[in-house]
Amino acid sequence: MNPTRRMIELARRVRANAYAPYSKFKVGACVRTRRGRLYAGANVENAAYPQGSCAEASAIAAMIAGGEREIVEIVVLAGGHKLCSPCGGCRQRLAEFAAAETPVHICGLRGLRRTVTLGALLPLSFGGDNLGTRG
Ligand code: THU
Repeated sequence: MNPTRRMIELARRVRANAYAPYSKFKVGACVRTRRGRLYAGANVENAAYPQGSCAEASAIAAMIAGGEREIVEIVVLAGGHKLCSPCGGCRQRLAEFAAAETPVHICGLRGLRRTVTLGALLPLSFGGDNLGTRG
């Protein structure tokens, strides 16, 4: 199975474990690192709503825990009619570890729906370059 399809499959599997009792909107995400490892995450909501985390944030946290920092491919997977593209906050979170050309695959329950670059989702971004450092 090619890496993108493996990522989609992983995102689908972790999505099933999402904790989303408030929105009922389950999301799975998967990031692939330059070393070829895959890290997945699901959304984790909280009764104090702002404390919830998105699936992308969970996948990034797993990657950092795994000792990696460079994302080369991203999958986000959710149900619903509308494309589930990462929220504004997650675009910024992803940009911390991925390049503008990094593909973001937006998937539904039946698979890939659309691929865009992170740069298209977050043009003119503020980042480590602005501060003269990247972590
Ligand atoms: N959510 C994600 O996890 N990722 C996205 O890209 C969009 C939204 C979550 C946050 C919240 O738990 C639920 O979906 C409804 O907004």
